[in-house]
Amino acid sequence: MGDDVSERLSVRGLCKAYRSGDDRVTILNDFDLSLSDGEAVALTGRSGSGKSTLIHLLCGLAVPDGGRIRLFGEAMPATADDELWATQRRQRVATVFQDTNLLPTLTVSENIRFRASLADRPAPDVAGWLRALGLQGLADRYPDQVSGGQRQRAAIAVAFAMRPELLLADEPTGSLDRHTASAVADELFRFQRDTGCPMLLATHDQALAERCERIVPLTSEGDV
Ligand SMILES: Nc1ncnc2c1ncn2[C@@H]1O[C@H](COP(=O)(O)OP(=O)(O)O)[C@@H](O)[C@H]1O
Ligand SMILES: [Mg+2]
Repeated sequence: MGDDVSERLSVRGLCKAYRSGDDRVTILNDFDLSLSDGEAVALTGRSGSGKSTLIHLLCGLAVPDGGRIRLFGEAMPATADDELWATQRRQRVATVFQDTNLLPTLTVSENIRFRASLADRPAPDVAGWLRALGLQGLADRYPDQVSGGQRQRAAIAVAFAMRPELLLADEPTGSLDRHTASAVADELFRFQRDTGCPMLLATHDQALAERCERIVPLTSEGDV
């Protein structure tokens, strides 16, 4: 088929619907997307348009009704509880979710170290990541001892420390004020430039979207 080797993620004909009472609401209908090395793509759309759903599908935490997903050139199975998906999430695909994915029983710095070791990466420069994300002094706090915005930034530090080959971020600046959002966006783009890691950023922050090379708008049923 001559797959493009620089293609990190490729999605063809993805479909997803949810049941709502007696109705089925289509969220994604024959959706296509590809992401190459070093590319930053924004996923935009109003609340409820399916951004989070798509991010969950792309890391195997939800199962599509149809279509295919290839990660790093490999066809991914259409089941969620699969070892290949789990391996990709552990070692190559970093996710930053709205409700953050920090372990509550580990401090911020322990979360960062743990995530790197889980991915078999060398010990990360914890102090450096904390500084870059404006989290100095919070290394020994537990996630519930920092603010929502700080937790979100800590989740990004954790994702960076994993040295991913693909970064999927769901509203990574969603709970930050404008100034902090812009500083965190700087770090996201710096990371992408320095590592060549492709990023898919779901966002309704237009300023963040416009900093990406491409914007993929999601429209759901009724909009089309
Ligand atoms: N697990 C689920 N079961 C049923 N409906 C869901 C589920 N997850 C999301 N939805 C619905 O799908 C639509 C898209 O949601 P979501 O992907 O969270 O959108 P966005 O992230 O763009 O705000 C919403 O109408 C939401 O209520
Ligand atoms: Mg969402």
